[in-house]
Amino acid sequence: MRRKVTVVGAGNVGATCAQALAARDYADVVLVDIKEGLPQGKALDINQMGAVLGYEPRVTGSNSYDETAGSDVVVITAGLPRSPGMSRDDLVTTNEKIVTDVTEKAIAQSPEAILIVVSNPLDAMCHVAKNVSAWPRERVFGMAGILDTARFSTFIARETQASIKDVTAMVLGGHGDQMVPVVSATTVGGIPLRALVGEGEIDAMVQRTAKGGGEIVELLGTSAWYAPGAAAAQMVDSIMLDEKRILPCTAYLAGEYGIDGLYMGVPVKLGAGGIEDLLELELSEDEQTMLNESADAVREVVGVLSS
Ligand code: NAI
Ligand code: 2OP
Repeated sequence: MRRKVTVVGAGNVGATCAQALAARDYADVVLVDIKEGLPQGKALDINQMGAVLGYEPRVTGSNSYDETAGSDVVVITAGLPRSPGMSRDDLVTTNEKIVTDVTEKAIAQSPEAILIVVSNPLDAMCHVAKNVSAWPRERVFGMAGILDTARFSTFIARETQASIKDVTAMVLGGHGDQMVPVVSATTVGGIPLRALVGEGEIDAMVQRTAKGGGEIVELLGTSAWYAPGAAAAQMVDSIMLDEKRILPCTAYLAGEYGIDGLYMGVPVKLGAGGIEDLLELELSEDEQTMLNESADAVREVVGVLSS
């Protein structure tokens, strides 16, 4: 019997994540949404895509959680995305209600699952999922750092005219404009970024990464989905296949990096048990200051939550 992954929210990010998972072909995928017809229609389309790309038609679309029972991983993408002029934090009140509702229903059907939160504002929504589930931090965490790092890496590959495959980067902190691209840990083919690119160019790439979500919102009128959907699927892979990848994810910090009681993006080891280790990078003084500022920004949004 194949194992099961549920993706809640059959919108842009959820459907992209479900399609990426379907193409991997190791698990059944259940796509849930409140809009009637939407998850069913997208599941059908994704299954028919399998006939072309060569994967099994094992995606189910539903408006109920019955089909999600016994899921190993639940990815939560339900909620409003940004429109131009909005920050992720403008979504907090609406999405708190949605993430509360989704978490309650999902965990009732899958009490042993691992929850991956994608809905924005991401760090605060992780707090909502953790509070509602009362599950340990190993099993409740969020996707943002892989996306933010992918943006930084893309700009670096373009700037250095190197293959993206040879760029190693890491973006930490909250998923907001105060996120922290860790330049000291960034290399291209093993060579430190600072040996290849001037400070002015690096600073421009850091700024563009921090505002990378907003850049796409201005172009599209809504937020990104291809890279976010793929990033969530990469986290699911690492858990379901027990790959033990070290990936930047939004994890509950309990003193690590000098930050206590807050969800923030940090490198973690993801395996069958969820977060199996939380790694502490050696940061420069400037990077630690930026991380502390990012934590202050996250705390402000978390403070708006009703519980
Ligand atoms: P979308 O609008 O395309 O899809 C959201 C879906 O959620 C809709 O189909 C809607 O019907 C559904 N939904 C709303 N309430 C629901 C409920 N109670 N139960 C089940 N489904 C419900 O939005 P998109 O672009 O897919 O974005 C989804 C969320 O992910 C947004 O909050 C967005 O800001 C966030 N996001 C986060 C990223 C990250 O890096 N963490 C990256 C990109 C988006
Ligand atoms: C992004 O960074 C809006 O969080 C979303 O694209």
